[in-house]
Amino acid sequence: MNPSIHHIAIAVHDLEAALDFYRDALGLAVTERREVPEEGVEIAFLPAGEGELELLQPLNEASSVAQFLEKRGEGLHHVCLAVDDVEVAMERLRAAGARLLSDEPRVNVHGTRYVFVHPRSAHGVLLEVYECTMN
Ligand code: CO
Repeated sequence: MNPSIHHIAIAVHDLEAALDFYRDALGLAVTERREVPEEGVEIAFLPAGEGELELLQPLNEASSVAQFLEKRGEGLHHVCLAVDDVEVAMERLRAAGARLLSDEPRVNVHGTRYVFVHPRSAHGVLLEVYECTMN
């Protein structure tokens, strides 16, 4: 498994305002910015050392991030761990009784396979698990 921190995601109301802080005030670079319609969000990635920050802004009211913001306000949305093999990780998590948010790994535009683990199984934090061979 060999998990390592891949990114930490923060839900924000206004991506531009968040970039004023994280990019301009803190001096982090934005290496990727795109809309993810299937998740109802616009995202920006800002590498910081060995990990990255991910900023998430909802694209519409139906987005789970919009619901998150309404309930909890801005803040930590999820933590993402990179593992060697997402299917091995899923099997191991299932065997431990963890609740996964999809039965199969999802695939993002870069071909990265990933899965989310329910916060109830991860002691209060939504956990994303990326398959990342760069480890
Ligand atoms: Co993420």
